[in-house]
Amino acid sequence: MTAELIEYAARLPKAELHLHIEGSLEPEMLFRLAGRNKVDIPFGSVEAVRAAYNFSNLQDFLDIYYQGMRVLLTEEDFFDLTMAYLNRVRADNVRHVEIFFDPQGHTQRGVPFDTAISGILTALSLSKAQFGVTSKLIMCFLRHLPEDDAFATLKQAEGWLDRIEAVGLDSSETGHPPSKFERVFKAARDHGLKCVAHAGEEGPPDYVREALDLLHIDRLDHGNRALEDEALVERLRAAQMTLTVCPLSNLKLCVVDDMTAHPLKRMLDLGLNATVNSDDPAYFGGYVMDNFKAVIEALDLSRDDIKTLAKNSFAGSFLSESEKRAHLAAIDRI
Ligand code: ADE
Ligand code: ZN
Repeated sequence: MTAELIEYAARLPKAELHLHIEGSLEPEMLFRLAGRNKVDIPFGSVEAVRAAYNFSNLQDFLDIYYQGMRVLLTEEDFFDLTMAYLNRVRADNVRHVEIFFDPQGHTQRGVPFDTAISGILTALSLSKAQFGVTSKLIMCFLRHLPEDDAFATLKQAEGWLDRIEAVGLDSSETGHPPSKFERVFKAARDHGLKCVAHAGEEGPPDYVREALDLLHIDRLDHGNRALEDEALVERLRAAQMTLTVCPLSNLKLCVVDDMTAHPLKRMLDLGLNATVNSDDPAYFGGYVMDNFKAVIEALDLSRDDIKTLAKNSFAGSFLSESEKRAHLAAIDRI
């Protein structure tokens, strides 16, 4: 039965809405780029890198994630990174991706904004031309940095705004509430960009409220801790807000102790528009289908739940209404 459900999930067309492209840097590519760019890394082998991927919280992970980024220096590096991800997701029948990138993780190291975004965008358009996988790009602000830095990043993005769909908010959540970025999100909206934010991953339900009230988000990234607050759940349900949930990430970062305790099934039962995503697949043990497999095995999901998750991924995307309709109809045919 479980095997059949996994096979069904694999056959369904899906969208991925929560993916940090820098978090798709597999250890093999880390080594290859370190060699190509002559960057020292504190690991002797691919196995040693994988062994170091043991985290007790979000900050533990972020420290290693920002270290890993140091091998990304040239436009070709960003192209190779993005292309590898796009090639990998095709095997999972992912037909549309909305990916995050962290420009400040690169500009802070002296890598120009234009270098990072050019490499990423070239791969995204090649993937559409070659494989029909469509995409949107979301530029994240690092919340541990001051709002002024986010404003500087928005300025650097000005020549690229026709190719950026939305702004996002990521990095260390605790102590960096959405309210810190109210003005820069307003500026982004004034530029016509959509808004998303990580909230309620480690932070309290109030951070989710702030993301709604002050950042005016179009989509909520994670949102797990919203379940602690009944009124907030009702508000998210009534607004038909999409939650981009990341089960293996939650397990690896100790947001949940065990996959059987993951709130995904509860979210669906409460009528929330949850989706399944991989967050940082190279660090957390898998891509979209690995995440589906983990929740199907642990949470007793029904065939209808799985179909709903796939439908939510397109319905919650930033595709046009007619594009959404075509994907939803394709799901109904399977
Ligand atoms: N940056 C990359 N992955 C992240 C996550 N899961 N939470 C916050 N910031 C991130
Ligand atoms: Zn994330």
